[in-house]
Amino acid sequence: MSLIEVKNLGVQFQTNDGPVFAVNDISFSLERGQTLGIVGESGSGKSQTVLAMMGLLALNGQASGEVLFEGHNLLTLPSAELNQIRGNRIAMIFQDPMTSLNPYLTVERQMTEVLEFHKGMSRREARARCVQLLDAVKIPQAAKRIAMYPHEFSGGMRQRVMIAMALLCEPQVLVADEPTTALDVTVQAQIIALLRDLQRDFGTAIVMITHDLGVVAGLCDEVIVLYGGRVMEQAQANDIFYQPSHPYTVGLLGAIPRLDQGEQALVAIPGAPPNMSQLGAGCPFAERCALAEPRCSTTRPALAPSAHQPAVLRACHKSLQDMALSPQPEAQHV
Ligand SMILES: Nc1ncnc2c1ncn2[C@@H]1O[C@H](COP(=O)(O)OP(=O)(O)OP(=O)(O)O)[C@@H](O)[C@H]1O
Ligand code: SF4
Ligand SMILES: [Mg+2]
Repeated sequence: MSLIEVKNLGVQFQTNDGPVFAVNDISFSLERGQTLGIVGESGSGKSQTVLAMMGLLALNGQASGEVLFEGHNLLTLPSAELNQIRGNRIAMIFQDPMTSLNPYLTVERQMTEVLEFHKGMSRREARARCVQLLDAVKIPQAAKRIAMYPHEFSGGMRQRVMIAMALLCEPQVLVADEPTTALDVTVQAQIIALLRDLQRDFGTAIVMITHDLGVVAGLCDEVIVLYGGRVMEQAQANDIFYQPSHPYTVGLLGAIPRLDQGEQALVAIPGAPPNMSQLGAGCPFAERCALAEPRCSTTRPALAPSAHQPAVLRACHKSLQDMALSPQPEAQHV
């Protein structure tokens, strides 16, 4: 049995403009010590996927499907039982640390509270463990700094505090929503290295959300490429990188910043991500896809194994052979 198994996960929001299908039919399983990457542009459904898994959707949101953890479906678990798992055995690092750190409490109070609640530790025991973890995430002078408030830490240090908090109960699964996006490149690399070390030491399984394919390359075993709330391609990280089989993945790879060409050489896929409340019946990527043909706007391609690599799932009407014969999707310089 896998550590965690997500089956046909969907997220639907009720809005004044009608229902928004933010996440559709995502399935994956994760073993101990493995990392799954979820990538895609802004609004593609990355955060809502993991918020649904954790039972943290906004009030107008409804999840469907199954999230199986140790035989329990987290989507239907009573909240008291879910609270025992959440933050304890499945922990989350949120996209914005300041939304999940309480500005009015010292880091010490916020961290020790978790251990007192979940592990029944005394304040003194809890404090010692917290200092150990702040050390592990390389916060200098952890024993002193633990008494500080979140705003007294720099962005990078705050992110480390978040990671330490998420690891407090030695979770089996760590869900990290863009944990490095707001940080400069050097700090980003340090945090990724830190997650890799922690994974090695604790055997933690990680779900890593990112729009940075560099992070995927450094950390992930398997990758889900999302667009318009749907899986475009799902495969081992190496296949995604070296043999991308979906026009959107090819575009995303073209959109990696090219350091050798300087900052001006950032490239992007032409056009903008779709309005989620106005998605039609066809392929969500049709409006921006250089390979689109009439059926792409009317019929949604199913996610299915690639004819050439059955372990690669792709949702595209065109076969790899068709793609090779057609003009490749072009990235444009911005
Ligand atoms: N409460 C809500 N009501 C209606 N729609 C929502 C709500 N919350 C999120 N959405 C929609 O769900 C879609 C997916 O949002 P999500 O937060 O998962 O994007 P994301 O991939 O994490 O993007 P980013 O990279 O910007 O964080 C978006 O189009 C968003 O507008
Ligand atoms: S189904 Fe059509 S529009 Fe969608 S990615 Fe494939 S070729 Fe492009
Ligand atoms: Mg997000």
